[in-house]
Amino acid sequence: MSLSKYQQKFKLVMNDIEELHYNWRTAYCPIQRNFYQQKLIEKIYEAMRFIEGLSEKLKYVEVEKSIRENKIFTLEELKNFDGTNGKPAYVAVDGIVYDVTLIASWGGASHFGLLAGNDFTKEFNDCHGDRNMLKKIPVVGTLSL
Ligand code: HEM
Repeated sequence: MSLSKYQQKFKLVMNDIEELHYNWRTAYCPIQRNFYQQKLIEKIYEAMRFIEGLSEKLKYVEVEKSIRENKIFTLEELKNFDGTNGKPAYVAVDGIVYDVTLIASWGGASHFGLLAGNDFTKEFNDCHGDRNMLKKIPVVGTLSL
């Protein structure tokens, strides 16, 4: 199950808890109150199992992310990621390889005449220089020397 699906399901369990809690608080009859209390406890256990599962899932996402960030590209490999034929678009700046596939200003895998799949350290420093603007771009690895 994907992370967002999991979060949606968790939200549903939390909604159930809210509803059961309301029913339990407002029930007049003791038998009804007992019934809602029991259901409430069961739902809280279900929510706890969700939280345990979610933290496992998040650990996995972190590992996946660190693997993604650790790939080492040669310049030859980098050239494959030029955004053509559905391939992602990567560019390198100062030895870091960035995924610009979804970056608006790199639409069409190009940016002011620069085509993705290359090392643009010099161009970046000539045109921008401010590294902070690269913080928003996902890192996929480093460029081998
Ligand atoms: C020939 C060199 C370059 C020129 C003339 C240039 C020019 C520009 C200009 C005018 C903008 C602002 C307009 C817009 O958002 O479309 C911009 C934004 C941007 N450029 Fe460049 N650029 C160059 C090289 C690079 C390189 C090598 C990178 C490396 C990834 C880069 C990354 C970005 C990013 C991420 C933005 C968006 C910033 C934001 O919206 O916060 N640029 N560039």
